[in-house]
Amino acid sequence: MALPEKMHAVLLKEDGYSSSGEVSPTLENIGKFLEHAEIDLPRLKPGQVLIRVIMASVNPSDTIFVQGYYGQPRVKGAPAGFEGVGQVVAGKGLYASYLKGKRVSFVAGPNGSGAWAEYAVADASGVIPLRKDVRNEDGAAMIVNPLTASAMVDMVPEGGAFIATGGASQLGKLMAGLARSTGRRLIAVARRDEPLAHLKSLGAAHALNERSESFQADLVAAIKAENPTVMLDAVAGSVSARIFNAMPKDSRWVIYGKLAPELPEIQEPGKLIFMRQHIEGFWLVTWMSRTPFLRKIKTIRAVQARFASGQWKTDISTHVSLRNVMAELPAALAQPDGKVVITYDQG
Ligand SMILES: NC(=O)c1ccc[n+]([C@@H]2O[C@H](COP(=O)([O-])OP(=O)(O)OC[C@H]3O[C@@H](n4cnc5c(N)ncnc54)[C@H](OP(=O)(O)O)[C@@H]3O)[C@@H](O)[C@H]2O)c1
Repeated sequence: MALPEKMHAVLLKEDGYSSSGEVSPTLENIGKFLEHAEIDLPRLKPGQVLIRVIMASVNPSDTIFVQGYYGQPRVKGAPAGFEGVGQVVAGKGLYASYLKGKRVSFVAGPNGSGAWAEYAVADASGVIPLRKDVRNEDGAAMIVNPLTASAMVDMVPEGGAFIATGGASQLGKLMAGLARSTGRRLIAVARRDEPLAHLKSLGAAHALNERSESFQADLVAAIKAENPTVMLDAVAGSVSARIFNAMPKDSRWVIYGKLAPELPEIQEPGKLIFMRQHIEGFWLVTWMSRTPFLRKIKTIRAVQARFASGQWKTDISTHVSLRNVMAELPAALAQPDGKVVITYDQG
């Protein structure tokens, strides 16, 4: 099939980073940052594939990036969106050409062209050819969260216990399933009661609501029972500091997201000095560049097998068509429990 010359896309309206203003998790002011347009198809560089996008997921990293607060600069006029699933329609280079016709999960990295467009470009070396039994909903969210969950749970000693904040998030649910299947004990912390039973059914040993009156007592009891040595923290706010303060000596606070608007305050610096507690960050991009190739392949295969078997499932809250992103995305992002995915007219 001949490729069209033009495509619909949602484009970034600003360059670089922002330095002032608050980040809205629901992109309330979407028209300031994004616009819908028809543009030329992106061009391929050697080693890249052109992908006809089937579905793209909307992750917190996308909304933070669009507003100029993520770890890489924006490029005005470029399509937004990091992650998706689609069919490879062209490739430049031997391996890239071999991928033609395959359905793949992809991340449009800094060298590629964004996923919120009918066609996207990604490095062939970074795409994941999908098994037939993996749903598009799972393929669209196969890389950013599942690999992060797998890599981070690997930081917890085998048979050990850990705490995960932002428990109701997609990543939180993936980690609950991983805790069960890898024999680790999870204390999941969410900010509402509703997700707690589900987190336990997925595999969390304890599920706590950080906003309940009994939270401090529940936390202390769970820590006493499980002796968790790692906190995987999506929130990086005052609750994270409270939890860390209650953790035992030698424990690690691993910050991988910043969902809370307020800054965390170290409550007892002496614990860093005398109890060997420490604080660090995790970013999947660093993990991808530093992890040996064979270990990465093993992790990617295991992730795909978990989705294919139904052990993992991406919960979707809302489907928004690409052409309605500007009008519908903020309301869709305000829905709790599940990911928003962008869908594409395949006609
Ligand atoms: N470092 C990395 O490499 C990496 C990779 C992937 C993702 N991440 C980060 O991981 C986090 C989760 O991503 P996701 O895609 O799994 O999220 P998601 O499914 O879109 O869900 C977001 C969740 O965050 C919760 N939340 C929002 N603000 C909160 C706050 N102030 N305190 C506590 N919970 C809050 C929401 O709770 P409710 O359900 O109660 O509204 C919701 O469950 C994000 O921060 C993302 O940037 C980091």
